Amino acid sequence: MPRHESIWSATAALPECGSVEENVHVDVCVIGGGIAGLSTAYHLCKAGRSVAVIDDGPLASGMTRMTTGHLTNMLDDRYFELEKLHGEESMRIAADSHTAAIESIDEIVRREGIDCDFSRLDGYLFLAAGDKPETLDRELDAAHRAGLKGVERVARAPFEWNTGPALRFPRQGQFHPLKYLAGLAQVIRRDGGRIFCHSHADHVEGGVPALAHVGRHIVTADAIVVATNVPINNLLAIHTKQAPYMTYVVGARVPAGSVPKVLAWDTGDPYHYIRLQDDVLIVGGEDHKSGQATDSPQRYRKLEAWARSRFPAMGEVEFMWGGQVMEPADFLAFIGHNPMDHDNIFVATGDSGMGLTHGTIAGILLCDLIVGRTNPWEKLYSPSRVPLKAAADLAREDLNMAAQYGDWLTAGDVKSVDDIARDSGAIVRRGLEKLAVYRDASGALHECHAACPHLGCIVQWNPGEKTWDCPCHGSRFDAHGHVMNGPANRDLLLVKRADHKRAA
Ligand SMILES: Cc1cc2nc3c(=O)[nH]c(=O)nc-3n(C[C@H](O)[C@H](O)[C@H](O)COP(=O)(O)OP(=O)(O)OC[C@H]3O[C@@H](n4cnc5c(N)ncnc54)[C@H](O)[C@@H]3O)c2cc1C
Ligand code: FES
Repeated sequence: MPRHESIWSATAALPECGSVEENVHVDVCVIGGGIAGLSTAYHLCKAGRSVAVIDDGPLASGMTRMTTGHLTNMLDDRYFELEKLHGEESMRIAADSHTAAIESIDEIVRREGIDCDFSRLDGYLFLAAGDKPETLDRELDAAHRAGLKGVERVARAPFEWNTGPALRFPRQGQFHPLKYLAGLAQVIRRDGGRIFCHSHADHVEGGVPALAHVGRHIVTADAIVVATNVPINNLLAIHTKQAPYMTYVVGARVPAGSVPKVLAWDTGDPYHYIRLQDDVLIVGGEDHKSGQATDSPQRYRKLEAWARSRFPAMGEVEFMWGGQVMEPADFLAFIGHNPMDHDNIFVATGDSGMGLTHGTIAGILLCDLIVGRTNPWEKLYSPSRVPLKAAADLAREDLNMAAQYGDWLTAGDVKSVDDIARDSGAIVRRGLEKLAVYRDASGALHECHAACPHLGCIVQWNPGEKTWDCPCHGSRFDAHGHVMNGPANRDLLLVKRADHKRAA
């Protein structure tokens, strides 16, 4: 049986850290200990600021644990598309910032001696079945206009199967994301930063000082950075400009030396992504809008079939995992001042499939904004920008979100809780209400209200991940209704804890 966890969590341990047990005052409070939060804390410590990082799980328990670890300046939304929306100059800044992010990780790894399997390697963009070669030509021209050096068209990517024509992007990177974060955490502590885990930030208030309410305690600070992947402090302004997508990964061993160490992506939508870690071939894709597909187990099987048809020597699938990315309507992350808030509240979100470089960009940019240094990336990534030229896409996504409220009127997934199999969940209608009901492995039932605590959309059961996913703005909850991903910052409302009598 494959392990339902990422290869990263199976092969690295993050440092332990205690929870917030008293009121704390620091220059900057960073909420979220993923790549965005820890990169920001790292740079702020280097700039001489006192910093507290607050995470509600163990360190790095969010999407950085689920990544595939490509560090790339190959934009997954394509440079020619970005240019249409933002123009050539902005496209150049975007390319510069992703290149600088890879350089920054490379430099930090060397300077701080972080042992995280970092290496430089080529990346290949090849055509998905049915895609036209012109896509590659347009992207090559745009990449050159963006100022990327050395990108070239080649006859094929260097796999045994013939990918057909491809673009080669030199000097990309890959690393073990959790070993990198463990290294960052160590340096942050060495430089005087404090890291608290198992500490849920309930509420954030701007002003002087800014306040983060963490259970019974308060963290006061000159500035607060909310790096929770999807902001927990922003009700709507950002959430209408990005949409949540689930993406899935399988990992299987291949004979040593049989697959070249490169990164690769096809041009499909959704696209496939490929890399190698210690002779484990990692293949991802099969994305869908969160909370709007109920076939995630089949998606793992499709991914495996796609990989096996191209890498026939691949062994049994050892790892499988899935996670969520936030797709901004105009292809760029939102990093900077939180819109319609006090000047000292900052956010980083809208990672798309480029969240490791976007998170690293956030670390550099947010530090500059907080210490008062100018940064050429500020305007491009501003969370307040209005993506006018992406209006059609934005309207489509917003209509899709609005349509989700129709779920209040439909029947449940099953007629009765008796129809729910063990270790599975379903939406059940009870009168006017909809309930998210999970039957655990022992047969006991756990019932929660199905209304998402963010803005009330009805959550959906994701059978592959065993989570409740909200189809509107990205909130996710575990099988028992505990919040895992913002913007919701509370659990699903409990109706009834485990029904052990029935289970017996
Ligand atoms: C399957 C998959 C493959 C991917 N592959 C790539 C790739 O190859 N390259 C790439 O660049 N990107 C990739 N991405 C995207 C990238 O991994 C993520 O965008 C990135 O890791 C997000 O980092 P983050 O710091 O923003 O968020 P997270 O890593 O999610 O960190 C947020 C942290 O905030 C904490 N938190 C949340 N709410 C609270 C609260 N109320 N109080 C306290 N703490 C809280 C969480 O516990 C978590 O630790 C991939 C994503 C997925 C899912
Ligand atoms: S995430 Fe907004 S309603 Fe659920």
